[in-house]
This record gives sequence, structure tokens and C-alpha cells, in this order.
Amino acid sequence: MSKLMPILEVVNMNKSFQVKSKKTLFKKPNPVHVLNDISFELLEGETLSIVGESGCGKTTLGRCIVRGMDASSGQVIYHAEDGKDIDFLHLNRKEAKTYRKDIQMIFQDPYSSLSPRMSVFDIIAEPLIANFKLSRAEIEAKVVEIAGKTGLNVGYLNRYPHAFSGGQRQRIAIARALITQPRLIICDEAVSALDVSIQAQIINLLKDLQEQFKITYIFISHDLSIVQNISDRVAVMHLGRIVELASSDSMFAHPKHPYTEALMSAVPQPDPSHKKERIILEGEVPNPANPPSGCHFHPRCMYRTEKCIQEVPELREVGYNHFTACHHAEELTLRGVQERRAAVQ
Ligand SMILES: Nc1ncnc2c1ncn2[C@@H]1O[C@H](COP(=O)(O)OP(=O)(O)OP(=O)(O)O)[C@@H](O)[C@H]1O
Ligand SMILES: [Mg+2]
Repeated sequence: MSKLMPILEVVNMNKSFQVKSKKTLFKKPNPVHVLNDISFELLEGETLSIVGESGCGKTTLGRCIVRGMDASSGQVIYHAEDGKDIDFLHLNRKEAKTYRKDIQMIFQDPYSSLSPRMSVFDIIAEPLIANFKLSRAEIEAKVVEIAGKTGLNVGYLNRYPHAFSGGQRQRIAIARALITQPRLIICDEAVSALDVSIQAQIINLLKDLQEQFKITYIFISHDLSIVQNISDRVAVMHLGRIVELASSDSMFAHPKHPYTEALMSAVPQPDPSHKKERIILEGEVPNPANPPSGCHFHPRCMYRTEKCIQEVPELREVGYNHFTACHHAEELTLRGVQERRAAVQ
């Protein structure tokens, strides 16, 4: 198999929001660090899933990559088709336009992400008109082609989004994302709001389109069963940091971060003889405005030591292409889950 080349690199990305609390209404707002030093490489044609509890920063990361929101610092290096390495976040508007069409995002909620005042035709055509100079006939031909590929009834394109079901709306969102022939699509909870049978249809559609057009996906999801099914690699985020990054097989078979282990333990297993013991995380999800010291996961970690309370663990390679930000990853992996649990009880 030929080696996959990176299509995009996120380098030391940070994002803070200035948030005023009631107590500090008359003081300077406090910065809340929502993304902390995020770095990863995305390989052409792969599906990299991003998982983690609500509020850990997944949508913010996606939005910062597509420039729907300004990152506070960091870089997104895009390896364009013409061979150039582009510092995507720092291009001026005009330059960005050339490459923006290559990187699209499908947003979290099919009910609020489509403008209710535009016809489906106009919603799908909008990115095409914004990025290319085409005649009306060319635009129509392209919209009809993409609508057909995404399984939309082309006879209904003059209708408005409210006339469509959740699954159909998500197809509209996919068609809109596809129309500029992007190389990379960020799917933010693209199927979460849909019924299970419709979810499967949309997932199959995304997979087919990936094969047909060699699309690279960043797939943001809460649903680990879907993530296991579709991902080449998985990144686990906790409170604005990547705490584990590995191939999907390695991540699901041998999670090396206690947070990942707990997340994975909740995934239903098809084979009952391989049933995993569910690990319930105790304690509150930490507040990003006031994160814990050291490892941000330590207040909920059953393996924590003094080092975890004091020192922030670096993301480091602890197995082949398996990166984990846990001080004790090696010891924990070697000892095995049962023994580890016995040791802390
Ligand atoms: N515009 C904003 N101003 C202030 N804080 C924000 C803003 N947008 C997001 N946040 C905060 O940033 C954090 C991360 O939010 P984000 O939406 O990226 O999380 P998420 O992982 O996508 O969650 P979910 O799984 O619920 O979609 C949250 O604590 C959220 O409250
Ligand atoms: Mg989100």
C-alpha cells in the first residue's frame, strides 16, 4: 500500500473566549481556554474521528479549522492539490477564497443549519456561486448532479427546508458541502439527530462519496459505535486537549488513557463473551473556566498519583503510532485492567 500523505496539519492551535461571569461583571472578562495546544496530522483519504464529552471543544476545533471562527493562535497547514503548503488561517480573504472550497463543514444540527428562507436549490448552489464563475445552466447542471448523488429528489429542489425530514435535510447539507468538490469535509455530529435506520443510510452515503471522490473526513461524534465502524484513526479530546490519538483498531482494543478506557467501556459489544465491564466516571465534568491542576482528568481518575495532580502530561507515543497523554500509560497497559482496578481499591 502506498504511504498516505498528509492533507492538513493542525499545529499548536489555541482558542480562548472572553467570558464575563456575574461576579466579575465590572472587571476585565476572564479568558476561557477552550482549545489547548491542539496538534495533529490528517492523512489524505482517511477518516479521523474526534470524540469526547459535550463541551470538550470538538465543534470549536472544527470551526477554527474551516475559519468559521478565528483561532487565538496556531496554524493550519493545508497541502493543496497544486503541491503548495498553505498557512490556511493566515491567508487574506482573497487568497483564502482559492482554498476555502477545498475544506467544507457539515454542521451539527440539520434543523438549524439550513437557512429557512432559501430554497433547497439556492442552499446547495450558494457555495458554488461564491467560489466559481459559472453560467446559470452550468450551476443548474451541477446542483442536479450532486442532488442526485446524495439521494435527493431533484423534483423538490425549489421547496424550502421545512418541507423535508431530518434525514433529507442532512442530505441537503451534504450536497451543499460537496458541491465545490472539497478534498476535506468536517462532519460535526452529522448523523446524531437522525433515526438509527436513517443514520446508517447517511453513513453509507458518506462512505460511498469518500470512495468516489477520495474525500478526507474529520468525523466528530458522540456515538462510539459509529466511530468504531467508520474511522481509520480516532482522537479523544478532554477539556480542550487531545489526550489520546491512535488507529481505530488500537484505540478500541487497547485504550491507554483512563478517560478513553472509560468512554470505550460504554460501547456495546456484538459478542457477549467479550463483554467489557462498564466504567462509570464519578465526579463532575471539570469547568474549562477553572480547570484542575496537572492532568485535567485527575479528579475523576481512579489511577491518579501525586504526579498527576502536579504535572500536565504531554501527548507522547506509547505504542506504535499510539499517542497518549497519561503519566502512567505504560504501567497501566502492562498491568491489565483487572489488576489495575484491584490495585486502586
Ligand atoms: N462563542 C462562545 N463563547 C463562549 N464560550 C463558548 C463559545 N462557543 C463555545 N464555547 C464554550 O467552549 C466549550 C467547547 O464548546 P464546543 O461547542 O466546541 O464543545 P463540543 O465538544 O462541540 O460539545 P458538544 O458535544 O455538546 O457539541 C464549551 O465550554 C462552550 O461553552
Ligand atoms: Mg459540538
